[in-house]
Amino acid sequence: MSQQRLTPLYTGVKNHAKKDPIQFHIPGHKKGNGIDPEFREFIGENALSIDLINIGPLDDLHHPHGIIKEAQELAAEAFGADYTFFSVQGTSGAIMTMIMSVCGPGDKIIVPRNVHKSIMSAIIFSGANPIFIHPEIDKNLGISHGITTQSVEKAIEQHPDAKGLLVINPTYFGVSANLKEIVDIAHNANIPVLVDEAHGVHIHFHDELPLSAMQAGADMAATSVHKLGGSMTQSSVLNVKEGLVSPKRVQAIISMLTTTSTSYLLLSSLDVARKQLATVGKQMIENSIQLANKTRDEINLIPGLYCVGKEILGSKAAYDYDPTKLIISIKDLGITGYEVEVWLREKHNIEVELSDLYNILCIITFGDSERETKALINALQELSELHQDKIEARETASVYVPNSPTLALSPRDAFYSETEVISFDYSAGRIIAEFVMVYPPGIPILIPGEVITEENINYIQENLYAGLPVQGPEDATFKKIRVIKERRPIQ
Ligand SMILES: Cc1ncc(COP(=O)(O)O)c(C=O)c1O
Repeated sequence: MSQQRLTPLYTGVKNHAKKDPIQFHIPGHKKGNGIDPEFREFIGENALSIDLINIGPLDDLHHPHGIIKEAQELAAEAFGADYTFFSVQGTSGAIMTMIMSVCGPGDKIIVPRNVHKSIMSAIIFSGANPIFIHPEIDKNLGISHGITTQSVEKAIEQHPDAKGLLVINPTYFGVSANLKEIVDIAHNANIPVLVDEAHGVHIHFHDELPLSAMQAGADMAATSVHKLGGSMTQSSVLNVKEGLVSPKRVQAIISMLTTTSTSYLLLSSLDVARKQLATVGKQMIENSIQLANKTRDEINLIPGLYCVGKEILGSKAAYDYDPTKLIISIKDLGITGYEVEVWLREKHNIEVELSDLYNILCIITFGDSERETKALINALQELSELHQDKIEARETASVYVPNSPTLALSPRDAFYSETEVISFDYSAGRIIAEFVMVYPPGIPILIPGEVITEENINYIQENLYAGLPVQGPEDATFKKIRVIKERRPIQ
């Protein structure tokens, strides 16, 4: 544990910069001397002095043998992994590595349908065939939870030859399944468990939070240290337990997917974030749990608003939850979550994590204090007063979540097929060759290979109309969509 106070990578990089070496190597701005002066002044000379490259003393993320290796080993110890790989390409890079480490062309992988687009990208790159599990839908909130133990059992029974099972734990909204049971079921069938832990770096460091992937015995976890663990944006880790997966193959694949110009600012920030989590993380997370719980209670006193708490637990897919996520249902105000997002921005200079048709999501971390949560509560109070007439007039507001579309072609086959562009409004019944998603959260409404339905078209239009960031297709206006070309008999 005392070793966890060390930061070999950050200290090594800082000491190197302190020596002020004469640099005849990239980056060409040379400690900031050649960078735009206004940017230099803003960003600061210290940051620029450690914007370095993989020269000898600074080790190499592609072949770690020095300070990066030491930092990764300390991270593995902190996360309870056998090996930790640093990613400078976000959790997306780590997720693609996980999938490509276990799947090749034609291999089956069991995944929930509500996965992040990086998982679908990896499925296309690897040529794997997704076996979709339908996630549990919360019809009251209009959000998807995780997958149930029973659905995993069923999927493995039907596809015992699957090369991997991917689980999102916890979800963007902080809900988690019974991961330990799911891992045991998969391991009984010799199937490795890959966890998308983008929203759960902190759960490993506090007993009251859901079990982390490594605690549950999963084989790999792609974990966003940058999202909730205090490192810089884009820096993540891939944690690995040896046995069903080969760390050597993981190293080879992460290296294939990673830039050769790895940022030492990002890498150093992973080293210090790990130190902070391992040494004082528990107390810091405890403070954020308490702050979030207090904020939740106060929001729940505001008419027309509902901030989700532990009462949602008990369904098969909602086994545990992370109270630092404030899911605030605003549907009874008669406006959309996106309208609330914009109103908070314009009237109160408050930015939320995400919004959808029915909710906003605010995250509380150890970067927050009562100053921020009070501002949120005051703003929500004002919002509620503004919409009081609608709260009184409204009966129970209903939410709508579309069914999962049918997959007619493997995503890779669809992606590489001959395609044509047609009118989006008249595309029902055709097989889509593009992704359509709302980002955030980045969960595809349609993926290449799925059959478009009227329901999908209406749902996408509803999201567009509400102003939500629907993206994916080449035609960002959604007038046109790329579909698989149909071959008709020549007349
Ligand atoms: C569930 C989930 N998985 C993976 C990712 C990808 O993480 P990153 O942005 O670090 O690449 C995200 C990002 O929003 C996510 O929400």
